[in-house]
Amino acid sequence: MTTTGAQFDVVVIGGGPGGYATALYAAAAGLSVAIVERDKVGGTCLHRGCVPAKEFLETASVYRSVRGSAEFGITVGEPTLEFSVSQSRKNAVVDRLFRGLAGLLKGRKVTVLAGNGTLLPGRRVRVTEGVDAGTEIVGRAVVLAAGSVPRTLPGLPVDGRSVVTSDEFLDLDRLPESVAVIGAGAIGCEFASLLSDLGARVTLVEALDAILTGCDADVAAVVHRSFRKRGIEFRLGAQVKGFVPRPTGPGGVLHLAEGPEIETDMVVVSVGRRPRTEGLVAEGTAVVIDERGFVVADRYQRTHEPSVWAVGDVVGGTPQLAHVGFAEAIVAVKCMLGEPVVPVDYDRVPWAIYCHPEVAFAGLTEDQAKARGLEVVVKKDPFGGNSRAQILGDTEGLVKVVAEKAPDGGAGRIVGVHMVGPWVTEQLGAGYLAVNWEATAAEVAQFIQPHPSLSETFGETVLALTGRGLHLG
Ligand code: NAI
Repeated sequence: MTTTGAQFDVVVIGGGPGGYATALYAAAAGLSVAIVERDKVGGTCLHRGCVPAKEFLETASVYRSVRGSAEFGITVGEPTLEFSVSQSRKNAVVDRLFRGLAGLLKGRKVTVLAGNGTLLPGRRVRVTEGVDAGTEIVGRAVVLAAGSVPRTLPGLPVDGRSVVTSDEFLDLDRLPESVAVIGAGAIGCEFASLLSDLGARVTLVEALDAILTGCDADVAAVVHRSFRKRGIEFRLGAQVKGFVPRPTGPGGVLHLAEGPEIETDMVVVSVGRRPRTEGLVAEGTAVVIDERGFVVADRYQRTHEPSVWAVGDVVGGTPQLAHVGFAEAIVAVKCMLGEPVVPVDYDRVPWAIYCHPEVAFAGLTEDQAKARGLEVVVKKDPFGGNSRAQILGDTEGLVKVVAEKAPDGGAGRIVGVHMVGPWVTEQLGAGYLAVNWEATAAEVAQFIQPHPSLSETFGETVLALTGRGLHLG
């Protein structure tokens, strides 16, 4: 039992990736740490985001493999899906990881308080609404890591049955037969992909004229083509007007500003996430919350209040990715320890989207590089010619490398690596290093890729950038 007035070197509000990484890293440095968490440590990523979504995507992948097994001479008949089993498996995976994390925190003597944390003046943190409600503790440093929640849309009240966000979707026991997914960003594309692979009729509704607008256009085009081939329908440049539920049972009619309405069993709203800052900071501190509700922090994760840091999705203007939260946590702790620290370079963080085909990238897209006035040299190599991809029977996709033009007109420093295709989320490492090491194409081209491996496509793309590829012109 933690008593009111207890002092810690670091008090963290929020136990998601940003918060628990802060706690583990600070504790590893010998600091005393408390986390205030309203739900379970692990946060959105472990309980309502990355991990559960990838479990379902894996179910979709197994289903696809089983359906395609005849190509390998293995006949199993038409597979059937018991989605509740996948749901239970997901819960078991999440629970194991949760217990592992709780054990790690305990092992490092991190105190976990249950409830909502509010920052008060003087780096005091008050706990409300949980088992530890009423407790007030003090930190020499405080880290705000309260995370984010799904954004919703006016006219589309979330009821958990006909209209859901990722929160509710990831707890479903059975899949609907038809779904309209609103928003074709990372979440929308992952959900559309897995739902379609598992047999649902999917319509992807997007306000902009393209899907995955944060990705390189060539990469997004491959995903778009693949989705279309698999029967996903698109309503791009669409404005959602409202939803009329069926009188009985789930589902209803989704109305758009233009074009025919969409009759659907379920609407999944995936139009971004907003920060969870309601009640996070009391009057009397200098912490600034911007007009969209995000905490304002500098590149060292410092807020405007001395010795108060902020990390993860609660900070505005940075990618809402678990691994970015981890990296920011390390920056904040090093900064509070007075150690030399390199801030996160948001232009070069790795991205991984687990739809089928997978997407992974780091650095600038071709369009971004040009918009910044860089003269670029670009090479693209499709996976079609890769022997491992042929063996896997999964050849859709490409690797694209964007390099700055060198003074001699050839390829210089690599500024962006973009991949779409089989297992690219596990292949990005070399590209990520190339971009972040500011390596030139000639330097990276010297490295050998094992044969036969999917990574040869990256190697070949870089080799071709030097002007002489083995297979690629
Ligand atoms: P997002 O911001 O990536 O995409 C939202 C999409 O919804 C955009 O394309 C936007 O134009 C569209 N949109 C917004 N309002 C709309 C409207 N009224 N009607 C139709 N379309 C509308 O947000 P998303 O996909 O919800 O993900 C939230 C955050 O979580 C993002 O920062 C994302 O990068 C991150 N995330 C990353 C994953 C990954 O890297 N594998 C997986 C899941 C989430």
